[in-house]
Amino acid sequence: FNFARSDIQIQSTPVKRLCKTHNTITVNGMYPGPTLEVENGDTLVVNVVNRARYNVTIHWHGVRQMRSAWADGPEFITQCPIRPGKSYTYRFTIQGQEGTLWWHAHSSWLRATVYGALIIRPKQGDSYPFPKPHRETPLLLGEWWDANPIDVVREATRTGAAPNVSDAYTINGQPGDLYNCSSKDTVIVPIKSGETNLLRVVNSALNQELFFKVANHKMTVVGADASYLKPFTTSVIMLGPGQTTDVLITANQPPNRYHIAARAYASAQGAPFDNTTTTAILQYETSATCSHGGKCTSSKPVTAVMPAFNDTATATAFTTSLRSPRRVENVPQKIDHDLFFTVGLGLNKCPRGARARNCQGPNGTRFAASMNNVSFVLPSNFSLLQAHQQGVPGVFTTDFPARPPRQFDYTGNVSRSLWQPIRGTKVYKLKYGETVQVVLQGTSIFTAENHPIHLHGYDFYIVAEGFGNFDRRKDTAKFNLVDPPMRNTASVPVGGWAVIRFVADNPGVWLMHCHLDVHITWGLAMAFLVENGVGELQTLQPPPPDLPVC
Ligand code: C2O
Repeated sequence: FNFARSDIQIQSTPVKRLCKTHNTITVNGMYPGPTLEVENGDTLVVNVVNRARYNVTIHWHGVRQMRSAWADGPEFITQCPIRPGKSYTYRFTIQGQEGTLWWHAHSSWLRATVYGALIIRPKQGDSYPFPKPHRETPLLLGEWWDANPIDVVREATRTGAAPNVSDAYTINGQPGDLYNCSSKDTVIVPIKSGETNLLRVVNSALNQELFFKVANHKMTVVGADASYLKPFTTSVIMLGPGQTTDVLITANQPPNRYHIAARAYASAQGAPFDNTTTTAILQYETSATCSHGGKCTSSKPVTAVMPAFNDTATATAFTTSLRSPRRVENVPQKIDHDLFFTVGLGLNKCPRGARARNCQGPNGTRFAASMNNVSFVLPSNFSLLQAHQQGVPGVFTTDFPARPPRQFDYTGNVSRSLWQPIRGTKVYKLKYGETVQVVLQGTSIFTAENHPIHLHGYDFYIVAEGFGNFDRRKDTAKFNLVDPPMRNTASVPVGGWAVIRFVADNPGVWLMHCHLDVHITWGLAMAFLVENGVGELQTLQPPPPDLPVC
């Protein structure tokens, strides 16, 4: 065993961006937080100390957490929050995962600034399934608000309206040279002619799918969500929040400075979006425009021509190119639970007597979102996992529906009577080892939007995706059961659907939700409760002694 021990302190730190300084919740004073570098098979022991004035938890996004659900992190799902002044030690082992994952706060909107990369390298003696790169660079794409993000979401929750969009996109916390007051702090990625660099790209933005590109350079995609992929070459990639993509670039262009850029992909009709571009700079160390020692000062970088914000064709061309490196033997073929979940927005009528200032959604409503017409409500006095283990009644119900209450034209003109989800803390129960298929069907209630759907504690195969309404007869024939990509977050296309499959081989309570935080705020989530199997290896470990209580 290799123990990677670290301490993480959540604290308030002054941070200056876009010409202004304000107090920001950081990790060890850093924004973004530190990169954790481990090897497959390592056990991580991370002590989180909360010195901020908010409750916090940390989620290890994409880590399978086999039998260690207590370390998963979502507040009120697998633990109660770490209160100000308290601490909690997350302890878990990386099993069979290699590539790039990340960690982030899983409490309110704290993850806007509380996040970092988690790099998992092959064990000593193992190697990458591609030529060893000369360098590796984690690139975390994010969003920055001039206001405190917690205030932004509190205001939206009070008014029922859509929250303010962010003021900048960022790469490793920096807006880059196209934003005011940001040029001199732009992230520089050095490279020498002929070298390759493994870029570990993470979409840690709160509410935005992003296109990512390096000017004049092709990328070879080699992995996503800590699973290897069959390598392929592209000039642009798309990531939904939560997703990671590993790409190799080779310095085969004339020495110069080139933009590394990310820009919004948001094809929702009528939804506000930010059309600005965040940049870093790929800088050839031999560049003639640079002085000795590799310092470049003035030369303007070569810019990247980004796809338009509504370029669904480019996004789809990318997501449908992903393949596992070889034939996979363990795609579930026989399905025990054939589930159909709608994912989309809703609008709640305002209760009689409610004040207008609390009903500032469209036409005096409040925004909502749901899966199968249920807006998920977090409990507040127990975590679901604790309630399940201790048999505490009344915290959740096990009647999350296997299909929507009514079949309708999901992506067409949806009748107004179907716009209002109910609220509840409902889970769907699975026995250990059962096989699951979920059709994730986007809806066009209010607007059609993309939904990056993330499942905690699991990787799943994405066997198909498409537009319009899922058609069981026609679309089942198109399933890729041979070499589908394995991921932890699926981009459900705007006005379309995706189908995932997994085996319920990890006991616990596992949140599945849209990784746009605005949508999870509105209830676009549910949870699977996976029961213990037979014997120790199929049973959740006992809770750690310092597990926070509510
Ligand atoms: Cu990356 Cu529930 O989140």
